[in-house]
Amino acid sequence: MNEPRMKQRVTLTLNGRKVSGDAEPRLLLTDFLRHTLGATGTHVGCEHGVCGCCTVLIDGVASRSCLAFAVQVNGSRIETVESLAEADGTLNALQEAFRRHHALQCGFCTAGILMSFTDFLRRRPTPTREEVVDVLGGHLCRCTGYATIIDAVMDVVAGSAPEPSGASA
Ligand code: FES
Ligand code: FES
Repeated sequence: MNEPRMKQRVTLTLNGRKVSGDAEPRLLLTDFLRHTLGATGTHVGCEHGVCGCCTVLIDGVASRSCLAFAVQVNGSRIETVESLAEADGTLNALQEAFRRHHALQCGFCTAGILMSFTDFLRRRPTPTREEVVDVLGGHLCRCTGYATIIDAVMDVVAGSAPEPSGASA
């Protein structure tokens, strides 16, 4: 008979707050976030690394939380979609652009896409449209047809682009 697996204490920084919970070694980070820590903004789609719904930032890097065990991220800094809006619910620039462009319908894929672009735009604030399309290639969306998502991200990019030289003040 298999011995029940011992739970281990996992402590991490979730959206700026230190939190802890107990996890069996096989518990996925996705389930730890949702069921143990109550951060249900991260969605679960395929559970094998394909759809991108479960994307969170682990120490600043966009990662599939269905491909990590909770015990592996002990001591890490995790950012989820809950970190994006202000405490009073004011959307950040990326979320606001998604709203403006109708870049979501059912919203199931949206948290993961927002987190991938959060990481990407921090590293590369003024990408080309092709680069944005390339990032979106890591996500499945059954509703939007993708074009509005690309438009929303490019809108944010246009807002962070430096003024063209010679532009009047
Ligand atoms: S649920 Fe993780 S990639 Fe689909
Ligand atoms: S908005 Fe429905 S799956 Fe993307």
